[in-house]
Amino acid sequence: MEREFLFLKPNTVRRGLIGEVISRLERRGIKIIALKMIWVTKEQAEELYQEHKGKSFYNDLIDFVLSGPVVVMILEGPRVIEMVRHIIGNTDPLKASPGSIRGEFGMSVTKNIVHASDSLESAKREMKIFFSENEILNYRLDV
Ligand code: CMP
Repeated sequence: MEREFLFLKPNTVRRGLIGEVISRLERRGIKIIALKMIWVTKEQAEELYQEHKGKSFYNDLIDFVLSGPVVVMILEGPRVIEMVRHIIGNTDPLKASPGSIRGEFGMSVTKNIVHASDSLESAKREMKIFFSENEILNYRLDV
């Protein structure tokens, strides 16, 4: 069973799209095992995006994710990373397929609705920035 980390960016919260995103995941049978709304700290944002440090868009990206509350969650399921990345679409909303979350709601590469980990290793690392073990819940999903 795989676990995936998902981060709903501040403008997703400001635009009232939390339910829209969660609903699309739930409709595909994806199980949410941890979920909370937080105001990210600078340290957390820098840790999340450490691989982008020094890139031209880095400072704007950090400022953006600190600009308002976000929703963080951990998802679980077979091949959940692949499934989530398929549902959210390409990082660039212009390249994302129209039926995907980014293809439908994304405004720009920075304001692209969500961040999702791209591998098992990055999911493991990124979920630890925001969640402790006791926030991850074990229950049965009826699907
Ligand atoms: P995300 O999935 O949050 O992971 C890294 C983020 O960096 C990415 O989504 C984009 O928001 C941002 N990003 C990546 N490439 C660019 C780019 N060329 N210009 C602006 N932002 C970018």
